[in-house]
Amino acid sequence: MNLRKYTETIGIASGKGGAGKTTVSVNLALALQEKGFRVMLFDADLGLANAPILLGTRCPFNISHVLSGEKTLADIVVTTPQNLRLISGASGNQALAGLTAVQVGQLVQAFSDLQEELDYLIVDMAAGISPAVMTLMAACHRRFIVMRNDPSSIADAYGTIKVLLEDELMDEIYLIPNAIKNQLAGEALFQRINRVCAQFLGRTIHYAGSLEMDALIQDAHKHLQPLLTFAPASQAAKDVRKLAGAVTDLAPADKPSGAVQFFISRWLAPTLPKDLH
Ligand SMILES: Nc1ncnc2c1ncn2[C@@H]1O[C@H](COP(=O)(O)OP(=O)(O)O)[C@@H](O)[C@H]1O
Ligand SMILES: [Mg+2]
Repeated sequence: MNLRKYTETIGIASGKGGAGKTTVSVNLALALQEKGFRVMLFDADLGLANAPILLGTRCPFNISHVLSGEKTLADIVVTTPQNLRLISGASGNQALAGLTAVQVGQLVQAFSDLQEELDYLIVDMAAGISPAVMTLMAACHRRFIVMRNDPSSIADAYGTIKVLLEDELMDEIYLIPNAIKNQLAGEALFQRINRVCAQFLGRTIHYAGSLEMDALIQDAHKHLQPLLTFAPASQAAKDVRKLAGAVTDLAPADKPSGAVQFFISRWLAPTLPKDLH
């Protein structure tokens, strides 16, 4: 096993809710951990099937307590039963998506104070392309877009990629077709989207791997367990492990820094919202 020299951050988004962001985030985090890496999951999604529920855990405090100044980020981190470090986005009715880019910027900066040795930080985004989501995505090294093979999911994923590429000038965008028939169909779907990106946006994106449609994912959800522990031998669990392998094979996204604090400070620096300068 090859520990990272610095923390790699991966933002997981999709234009549309229900595409599979939380499923991918939680299980990718666990698969990376299985490989021996130190992983933290930041649940910045407020969907019903959110990460703490899927991990069968409860977070007494969340980001709203950090924003109000009651707690520090270090105070609110929990360790899940699977031994994952987890930060909960916000309580049910306080939408993280409603935060301004400045507030999100402050939040991201709070990560500088975290004294954690991490190889990966996975950020499970809320649906849509709000300023909060875009600021968080910009703060990550890599951006994964989860998409299903249906017209509205494809349109939303393409719309998100377009904004990332055109308006926000972000690169390191990877597509993850989810709930598809087989790996071949997933790769074909990626090729289709990538051709459209090349033709209409003049830029290309990357392929990270696909997750097949697997009823065991829903069963795992119903049992409030992550797929990787509920059905470790399932096809989707194999797909997630393959995805984790692809992630660890990627060339470093940035120069290694050797220290999480230093790294996390640099994490925001290039994309600090204008108003914070
Ligand atoms: N590959 C898959 N096969 C079958 N069901 C899936 C798959 N991925 C996700 N699901 C189901 O789709 C629903 C939405 O997934 P979720 O990860 O919560 O999406 P999001 O976080 O994007 O809103 C959940 O009920 C989940 O069980
Ligand atoms: Mg979700």
